[in-house]
Amino acid sequence: GKTVALTGGAAGIGAAVRETLLTWGAEVVVLDRTDPQDERVKFIAVDLSDPDSIENAIAQLPTELDGLANVAGVPGTQSPELVMRVNYLGLRALTEHVIDRIRSGGAVVNVASIAGASWMLHLEKLAELVTIEDYDTALKWSVANAPARGADAYEFSKEAVLYYTKWRSHSAWQKGVRMNAVCPGATATGILEDFKESMAPGAIDWSEQLLGRHGKPEDVAPIVVFLLDSVSGFINGADIPVDGGLVAGLTVGAI
Ligand code: NAI
Repeated sequence: GKTVALTGGAAGIGAAVRETLLTWGAEVVVLDRTDPQDERVKFIAVDLSDPDSIENAIAQLPTELDGLANVAGVPGTQSPELVMRVNYLGLRALTEHVIDRIRSGGAVVNVASIAGASWMLHLEKLAELVTIEDYDTALKWSVANAPARGADAYEFSKEAVLYYTKWRSHSAWQKGVRMNAVCPGATATGILEDFKESMAPGAIDWSEQLLGRHGKPEDVAPIVVFLLDSVSGFINGADIPVDGGLVAGLTVGAI
């Protein structure tokens, strides 16, 4: 069977990914700050905002993996520094430590967001950040250069995830490992109430009215697992929106 490490697997989209991975027949290792209380998986407690905690968690991971699904994230109601630490710096630190353990044919999937859809407008800034390998240097850069409002920092953190995914995908490919991203739109999980607080007033309700519903964790989970599976073996460096067509419609002015 396949062995997959999954961050954020205790709740929301990550919990749905956990279920889908089990159905797919994988052995699942959940890395989260919260115990999912699921006897079918191995649980490793980690605080992804803390590089020491990440290293400690890595020491408990299997030495060989088939996949890594980076799902954990925090909303823009948190401080810009915490948003950058969890959503980008922690994701990247974990991935860079773990990627050499992923067997050829395996994959990394990063959950970004449609909030990162404007990443192409910030190529220079993102290139500056993403090419910094050292955690403390990247943290210092983030504190100095990431947006000062939580909601803007959230967008920037997701743009960084998208840029990193694309930037890293080719060197991963040369080792037989793919790296892709999934961009959910508004999805009915606990984080939505935070988004309603941190994002432009009415934006989340507007998306629901426009599309007739929010996304469900079950809409997103199969796409994450599809990108881990060899059936998607020629998809690399891509980002797949799971947003009911919201970004597509906005981009061409149909919405
Ligand atoms: P959630 O709040 O339901 O789940 C987040 C999970 O991440 C929880 O299990 C939590 O314990 C874990 N987590 C948070 N901070 C952590 C830390 N410091 N260390 C370890 N684990 C930590 O949120 P949801 O909706 O499932 O979000 C999952 C991902 O999807 C996030 O990256 C989020 O930014 C992204 N996303 C969510 C959208 C939505 O509307 N729900 C839309 C677009 C992206």
